[in-house]
Amino acid sequence: MKPKTTPPTKTRKSKAASARTMGGNPGLPAKRVSDSQLRLSLPMNPDMANAVGNIHGGIIMKLVDEAGGFAAMKHARNVTVTVAMDSMTFLSPIKIGSLVSFQASVNWVGRTSIEVGIRVEAENVLTGQVTHTNSAYLVYVALDQYGQPTPVPPLLIETEQELRRWHEGAERQAHRLKRAKAK
Ligand SMILES: CC(C)(COP(=O)(O)OP(=O)(O)OC[C@H]1O[C@@H](n2cnc3c(N)ncnc32)[C@H](O)[C@@H]1OP(=O)(O)O)[C@@H](O)C(=O)NCCC(=O)NCCS
Repeated sequence: MKPKTTPPTKTRKSKAASARTMGGNPGLPAKRVSDSQLRLSLPMNPDMANAVGNIHGGIIMKLVDEAGGFAAMKHARNVTVTVAMDSMTFLSPIKIGSLVSFQASVNWVGRTSIEVGIRVEAENVLTGQVTHTNSAYLVYVALDQYGQPTPVPPLLIETEQELRRWHEGAERQAHRLKRAKAK
């Protein structure tokens, strides 16, 4: 009788050829992307809106920064400050009463800096319709007890998607530093 073989399990995110640790301080234990991923969801109330019932862009930017900052702190397990925020485009208005979620995920880490990507979605809870309203990339720097930049753990890259995001993050960071140097 032929021995039974188990077919390979298909996973939604394809696994990278092998997990690898990238960036950060090799002396610190590497962290998975999933270790610091988070979703912050909250209702949009009238005090957050303008006269026609659209939520102020500044409120969304603050919450984006907050979600990204907590993901960065979860990765670093240290205080972090925002050093850069890429330009943000508001793709569609967010109305009072929407439930807005901010999904934050670490894309790339340098020596002391961390790039976090944040995806913003607004849900109309009466219809279930979910609209992608923004995406943003922010960079945070981990600080020690003296307020000085301090090394962060390496990132453990486990999937092809994480690897793609890593390379895109590295490229964006190179552009940011080039722009900052040119000023
Ligand atoms: C963040 C801060 C501590 C960095 O100080 P610094 O003297 O530039 O320190 P460094 O030169 O060592 O840079 C630290 C890291 O920030 C990165 N960085 C500096 N300027 C950057 C920029 N414009 N964009 C992206 N990253 C930047 C560096 O590349 C470095 O990363 P690395 O260690 O991974 O290579 C300092 O700029 C600061 O305190 N800024 C104010 C932060 C703040 O208050 N934010 C709240 C919103 S106002």
